[in-house]
Amino acid sequence: MLKSMLEPRSIAVIGASRTPGKIGYVILKNIIGYGYKGKIYPINPNAEEIMGLKAYPSVLNVPGDVDVAVIAIPAQEVPRAMEECGKKGVKVAVVITSGFSEVGNVELEEKIIKIAREYGVRILGPNIFGYAYTPSNINATFGPLEVEKGNIALISQSGALGIALMGWTIMNEIGLSALFSVGNMADIDVAELSELLADDPNTKVIAIYLEGIKPGRGREFVETMTRVTEKKPVVVIKAGRTSRGMKAVASHTGSLAGSDALYEAAFKQAGVIRAYDVEEMFDIARAFAQQPLPRGENTIIITNGGGVGVLATDAAELSGVKLVEPSQQLMNAFKQAMPWFGSPKNPVDLTGQAVVDNYIKALKIAIESPEIDNIVILYCRTAILDPRDLAKAIVEFYSENKVNKPTVASFVGGQDTYDAMRYLNRNGIPSYPSPERAINALSKMLWYKRFLEKRTSKR
Ligand code: COA
Repeated sequence: MLKSMLEPRSIAVIGASRTPGKIGYVILKNIIGYGYKGKIYPINPNAEEIMGLKAYPSVLNVPGDVDVAVIAIPAQEVPRAMEECGKKGVKVAVVITSGFSEVGNVELEEKIIKIAREYGVRILGPNIFGYAYTPSNINATFGPLEVEKGNIALISQSGALGIALMGWTIMNEIGLSALFSVGNMADIDVAELSELLADDPNTKVIAIYLEGIKPGRGREFVETMTRVTEKKPVVVIKAGRTSRGMKAVASHTGSLAGSDALYEAAFKQAGVIRAYDVEEMFDIARAFAQQPLPRGENTIIITNGGGVGVLATDAAELSGVKLVEPSQQLMNAFKQAMPWFGSPKNPVDLTGQAVVDNYIKALKIAIESPEIDNIVILYCRTAILDPRDLAKAIVEFYSENKVNKPTVASFVGGQDTYDAMRYLNRNGIPSYPSPERAINALSKMLWYKRFLEKRTSKR
């Protein structure tokens, strides 16, 4: 049933508007503009035609089936529209409209749930900005049009933050498979969506902005998420960590923020990775999205700068990333990749004199060595090695050699290092402006690997 949201044959927009700037206008414009190939039915009793499409006074007048109905009409009119969706056999109603339980209008929310249950319609929302599923070219939101395509699914319990993150992911070239705003979670909740995405072949990792789960659903949440993490990694920001934050949550989505320690324990039990801010959530999600899961613990750092090497070493020690002690044989090999004054230990220091060739030689040794499972590439801007040349060479090397050892990178410097990192990110190597962020992402991948192993060994 929920799967119809990902591959609907048709979408109706109830409240599709002729008036630029209205929410029902933007949603229809985005659905058309993002290239959805199924049937699109604008529903508006006051219009004959909207954006070149024939409009219908009600979903009941639509000639074909309607899988998904996006509802963007004033709250008091939603029950009638829901009833009509039920009669039409709509599978999922995406209720954008605000003015329900989030403002104390619990009765109206219960009314639409009751109608939907009677007919077997599922509800996403109410009080949401919509949803997107990029493999089917669906952008049924009133956010930005150009959602970057990729394999990270994002679920947001906050509407405005979710919309903001749409823009943010576009700017940072973070590719999304899906984006769901869940709002009041009157029916479909975060756990159920995660389960849907766990079986979605176009999603590799699920990122969630969570304020709280519904009272009494804690155990179910842990059970569901435990099943989900068996299939793919989940990264969550749980907002409302402090007592003031919890109060803010209560007045925002009306969820029970609950004790932070309880959430922490629930996440650990279910194998859910916790992030503490948006940047960290996407740092981790990008690593999972672009790299294979680690198979072992042994990590090597390859750098041209001692300082970033030390920072990365500290970060690794503090976050449980095991830095390999290279054997004499391995050190001898690394020696061939650097000037005589470099260091073949871990971090492998190619020195400030390093050029592309040194990095590629060291990487070749690292991918061939059975002593090494994971690779951290660090670079500090020097005048003798243009970071963009290095980024290009790394991407070429990884693609030519089909490298399957998890790799993260950090380039430190100015605008050109930023450009180089964009290139790496676009080509599958997760790159971060500080060594600590690169190590943190890797540490979470390793945590998840250990979690899966522990789970398997318990069976
Ligand atoms: N069926 C179909 N269309 C209908 C309708 C009905 N029962 N009732 C009205 N319409 C049409 C209107 O004619 C209008 O089209 P037009 O501009 O071409 O005339 C369109 O639907 C919108 O109706 P309108 O009454 O103008 O509503 P609105 O756009 O001012 O507000 C909402 C509707 C849903 C946007 C508003 O009630 C709301 O909830 N806003 C908040 C949404 C939000 O923030 N959600 C959470 C985000 S995180």
